[in-house]
Amino acid sequence: MRTFVELYGRPPDVIADAPGRVNLIGEHTDYNDGLMLPATLPQRTQAELARRGDRQVRAWSTSITRGGPPPATYVLGEEVRQKRWLDYVQGATKALADAGHHIGGFDLRIDSRVPRGGGLSSSAALLVALLRGLRQLYGLAIDDVTLAHLARRAENDLVGAPVGIMDPLVISVGRPGEALFIDAASSTTRHVPLPPSLALVVIDSGVHHSHAGGEYRTRKAECEAAATALGVSTLREAETLDGLDARIAALPEPLNRRARHVVAENARVRRAESLLVAGDLAALGRVLNEGHASLRDDYAVSVPAVDRLVQIAQREPGIHGARLTGGGFGGAVVALADAGRAAAAAATIAAAYETATGHQPAVLVPAGIGAPGAVSG
Ligand code: GLA
Repeated sequence: MRTFVELYGRPPDVIADAPGRVNLIGEHTDYNDGLMLPATLPQRTQAELARRGDRQVRAWSTSITRGGPPPATYVLGEEVRQKRWLDYVQGATKALADAGHHIGGFDLRIDSRVPRGGGLSSSAALLVALLRGLRQLYGLAIDDVTLAHLARRAENDLVGAPVGIMDPLVISVGRPGEALFIDAASSTTRHVPLPPSLALVVIDSGVHHSHAGGEYRTRKAECEAAATALGVSTLREAETLDGLDARIAALPEPLNRRARHVVAENARVRRAESLLVAGDLAALGRVLNEGHASLRDDYAVSVPAVDRLVQIAQREPGIHGARLTGGGFGGAVVALADAGRAAAAAATIAAAYETATGHQPAVLVPAGIGAPGAVSG
């Protein structure tokens, strides 16, 4: 693995980093102005940067360029979509320029330890690490919430992925040992400490659907169509309607099921926050289990291998509940374990899943058990 000095002949001026995220509950709610409760992961992406005297950007990544090719380059102000990883870097510099922030060129080395393709937001981790690095390198006056919005703009505009605010926001303002309650309608957040009796388990299924991006776009469009049919501008706003359940039931398939998921999921986030505060892991686990059933049956974003992994986890002693986390179509599962039992439970679940499906799982949390990075996609 080439170091910054080997790549660019000098040390970096700034080193910044940012974690991946796991969502406890509140899936596919962010682009519906809804509620969610994600937390940060121990795995982090690092960005090393050094100033240049011109407007050139040179960028290199350990995970994508695999040590071989030289750094990719472009000139600030000439960002264009290339449909490759450099678009994230170009997206960040373009979002800064569009927001009126002035920067010069820089050399960049990215080291991503957040597995890609697992629904754990390696892309937002990269963007937030890079924007933090540029903020420091060029002394930009940007607060953490604004930085999250810039990361989202980079992904929506130049990269062309219509993602919501959840990932960059929790990555930018979340803290270890806590979940973050997010209300996407107002961008308000609350830190919610995880009770000491709880340990999270995150296992990647080793399955990743290559059409996830297209399906995500379709779900978003279905939600917009459902909101329009209900006569409101977002599905969050639908919560104020009288006789909502009957109105949702009267929508055509599959808009009825999509809307039912989103409205019920917002309610689950509210319940989950209170249960976390109360430390009621058994009831919280049931909320996660319900959330998975809703993603599988109403929102149709799960796949059989992930359903199997969730089912195996839900049956494991010491586990209170489990569900698919992230956008779906493969990816990782989050489970709630009794503190002190997480490592053993995770190892048992991963082994049983591998036997049952033949897919190669990776235990990501607790860290240090599985083989992080062995994620497809
Ligand atoms: C992806 C997106 C998020 C969110 C989730 C689903 O992770 O990046 O904005 O929509 O899917 O909850």
